[in-house]
Amino acid sequence: MSPARVAIASSLLALLAGCSGAYLTPVQTASARTALSLSPGERAHMRAGMRAFLESVEGITQGIAEGSMQRVAASARRSGWAMMDDAATAMALKLPPEFVAVSIDTHQKFDDLAAAAEAGAAKGKLLGDLGQILTNCTACHASYRLSPQ
Ligand code: HEC
Repeated sequence: MSPARVAIASSLLALLAGCSGAYLTPVQTASARTALSLSPGERAHMRAGMRAFLESVEGITQGIAEGSMQRVAASARRSGWAMMDDAATAMALKLPPEFVAVSIDTHQKFDDLAAAAEAGAAKGKLLGDLGQILTNCTACHASYRLSPQ
């Protein structure tokens, strides 16, 4: 390596070292998220619901890309109120009210998106609705975690 390259590489390293605090912030603040106290079974149930949320997001996105409003509506509907089964309702009583509020709002927004797709809303409107759903996902993930690690 030429001396000039070594100089550039070392200043890049110095820069990275200086920025490492910023890069690591999401990991370092993990412990600042509120841990939910749930049983292992309840945690598994919540994780399964989360994976279903992500599958809905996948189906909605692909449905919009394909122009299939039927796929958008069906994918959104799966994460609507219908997802709130007895176990989810029982769990809600053990969770912080703010968490439950965002959760309910998310189910409602999926149902609203399904209704909009069924009514033939424009792609831009559906993408905007999906963006608002994703805002709920990221806001909740920034505030809460399941395990006490
Ligand atoms: C009301 C709060 C809340 C909302 C809203 C929410 N999540 Fe989550 N999600 C969580 C929590 C808490 C975890 C566990 C995170 C942890 O312990 O690090 C989680 C975990 C996940 C996981 C990992 C599942 C696994 O198997 O470990 C996925 C995927 C996920 N969420 C997707 C989503 C998507 C997509 C949305 C929006 C459509 C969403 N979540 C909305 C609270 C929420």
